Amino acid sequence: MKKLRVGMIGAGNIANTHLERYIKNPNVELAAICDINEAKANRTADKFGIPNRYNSVAAMLAAEKLDAADVCVWNCAHAECTIAALNAGLDVMCEKPMAMTAEEAQAMKDVADKNGKLLMLGFVTRFSTEARIAKDFIDNGELGDIYYSKATYVRRHGNPGGWFSDKSRSGGGPIIDIGVHPLDLTRYLMGNPKPMSVFCVAANELHEDRANLKTRVGWYPEGADPKKDVCDVESSAVGIIRYENGASTLLECSYNLHAPSKGDNNGRVIYGTKGGLNIDDMKFYTDINGFMVDAEIKDIKNYTEAKDMFQAEIDHFVDCCLNGTECISPAEDGVVIMKILNALYESAKTGKSVDII
Ligand SMILES: NC(=O)c1ccc[n+]([C@@H]2O[C@H](COP(=O)([O-])OP(=O)(O)OC[C@H]3O[C@@H](n4cnc5c(N)ncnc54)[C@H](O)[C@@H]3O)[C@@H](O)[C@H]2O)c1
Repeated sequence: MKKLRVGMIGAGNIANTHLERYIKNPNVELAAICDINEAKANRTADKFGIPNRYNSVAAMLAAEKLDAADVCVWNCAHAECTIAALNAGLDVMCEKPMAMTAEEAQAMKDVADKNGKLLMLGFVTRFSTEARIAKDFIDNGELGDIYYSKATYVRRHGNPGGWFSDKSRSGGGPIIDIGVHPLDLTRYLMGNPKPMSVFCVAANELHEDRANLKTRVGWYPEGADPKKDVCDVESSAVGIIRYENGASTLLECSYNLHAPSKGDNNGRVIYGTKGGLNIDDMKFYTDINGFMVDAEIKDIKNYTEAKDMFQAEIDHFVDCCLNGTECISPAEDGVVIMKILNALYESAKTGKSVDII
């Protein structure tokens, strides 16, 4: 079978996470990598035995004959790198969030469509075992008609600093960086309804207190210094998204909050007419025989389809590229999520509800 020749764009944290999975896929040849930070490109290339390394996307695309690219760079460079790779005739996976704006996201999708190429979004939580079991329950009608969901990603102390807290490179804070995960997952499990309007309130608190805490979180990007880095992003936010079918989602996310430490994904719940399902603890709430019943889905690690979510995501991308399998995380969903994210920021700024067209 022909191997997929992959070029990695970016050599940072998530690129390494993806590369650890690509090397486990026997149908992949890791051909090249690029990063504007040449030392990082070289270090990551050495670690994974990638033969060719470059200090720009343009140089890599000009020199290499690739089949696919994986865009793992700062959010501000997603559109530029993705469009360049698509125009070079490659299938592309792009990390979340799709871009900085809905306009950029639409332009990326338009280029993919024009070139007849795949553009997959790195909405990795769709590939988790929990999410796949939830989808199975929902597809089987166990929840009934879904009309509400909770999308929570609360960090008590989790501003990564570096480019993440610099709006010009990230586009924003916890809304666009981590809120995007439960926002996408709940919408996906609700059947991808069309968003109509949003209302959002964001706070800008605790940045300094948290920068001075004596504990450090583990995911600061290389070189980040929360005491010195630019920090012009929100610290926490709450939003409500109203969908065309009458359903709604309550989004809550934070980098900094005096909240109980429960871990990252701490409240993704889907509510339907027949039952509610908490995707984090796999509890199912329903009525049986006139009584309220809490059930627990047991033994999910032994689910026959269970897989590390990043491995499942990378394997799916490779499968879509090589075999034309239908992508379950397509660009069109990335564009819709980008519209919601932009509208949330607009609402937080204006204090008004924002319609999504
Ligand atoms: N799916 C997830 O759970 C997850 C987790 C972390 C990050 N991410 C996403 O992955 C992306 C990268 O995040 P990260 O944590 O790896 O950051 P990082 O800072 O560790 O790595 C990003 C790299 O991109 C490079 N870069 C920036 N602009 C470039 C350009 N134009 N061309 C080539 N290289 C360029 C930087 O030099 C840096 O090495 C972001 O979009 C982020 O939102 C997703």
